[in-house]
Amino acid sequence: MSKSAESAISALFDAARAAQRHAYAPYSRFNVGAALRTPSGAIFAGCNVENAAYPEGACAETGAISAMALAGERHIEEILVIGDGEGLCTPCGGCRQRIREFASPQTLIHVAGPEGLRMTLSLAELLPYSFGPDHLKR
Ligand code: THU
Repeated sequence: MSKSAESAISALFDAARAAQRHAYAPYSRFNVGAALRTPSGAIFAGCNVENAAYPEGACAETGAISAMALAGERHIEEILVIGDGEGLCTPCGGCRQRIREFASPQTLIHVAGPEGLRMTLSLAELLPYSFGPDHLKR
């Protein structure tokens, strides 16, 4: 990996790690942070925010995407998700589709743990044969 790719990931890692500290997850006790970079170079982060009515909770990726949209940006260049524990904190099914809306099949999704980067996948690998905005074009 090139030095600039490494430092881009490291900036995403730092932002996601900082966001993870703000997670509100009293029910699952599983704190997640996400950070994405857009073509402008801006980084937007989010954390999971749970709710006593469990299904109303929001994932970290959802928060990061909302922050991006609020800033008027519409494209995800790469995104990093961090969670604790042994398992890979890959985006849930719903978040894969939310990422899909603003990404391309080649968009990289980095999965990290507290110690650093664990795996990098493309969106096409995480969500093959996906349905997206192009399907609705007539
Ligand atoms: N969660 C995320 O925020 N992102 C993921 O990629 C996986 C799961 C959250 C949802 C819920 O608040 C907690 O982690 C446990 O599922």
